[in-house]
Amino acid sequence: MVITIDGPAASGKSSTAQWVAERLGFQHVDSGALYRAMTATALRVSTDVASWTASALLEADARIALQPGAKSFATLIDGECADAEMRGPDVTAHVSRVAQMPDIRAWVNERVRRAAERHDVVVDGRDMGTAVFPDAALKIFLIADPWERARRRLIQRLGRSPADDEIAEETDLLVQRDGSDSTQTVQARDAVLLDTTYLTQEEQVERIVALAHAVSHRPATG
Ligand code: DC
Repeated sequence: MVITIDGPAASGKSSTAQWVAERLGFQHVDSGALYRAMTATALRVSTDVASWTASALLEADARIALQPGAKSFATLIDGECADAEMRGPDVTAHVSRVAQMPDIRAWVNERVRRAAERHDVVVDGRDMGTAVFPDAALKIFLIADPWERARRRLIQRLGRSPADDEIAEETDLLVQRDGSDSTQTVQARDAVLLDTTYLTQEEQVERIVALAHAVSHRPATG
């Protein structure tokens, strides 16, 4: 069974997907991590970002692995966890450009599809419910007000309540990022739209788990 969770940056997709996967005994796959791993590997090879081409980047194919774990697939570079590098500012600054290359998108999609062949998965990203799993059993599209997304992201990063001017600055960055990722971020026509602005993370997870139970009890058609 495949559950897709798509939505814009900082809408809480990955943490929600991870939690839902844990509740259902599924594996979590973070498709954004593959774009980030590809970008991190490219930066290790060359910081001349303007010269990057999809075919040169794809030479790193064998260096990047999606490895099933206890709860989530881990994205490894050269056999090692590189989460700090993958989530760092250099990768974040260039990943949108990499994610716009059609051959890189095809590579990520193929890796994610392969991961789903042998496992029940909750996959998060931008276009999992459209480009990759159009027949997913359940599709969720998560949105939240940009100010609230910025506030949550800062709490996570700073470990304290941010001031309004900090939230305003982060909101501005997020809205810019929404713009650069907009062509890739697609809500499937049959996705359940979940606005989490006024929901706690527990409430979001409960709703998605309840929807997953509902679809698994749905009588077969055809
Ligand atoms: O969700 P994230 O911030 O880790 O995503 C990193 C980048 O990859 C971001 O620019 C959006 C892009 N992305 C995408 O285009 N399609 C996906 N399925 C997942 C992420």
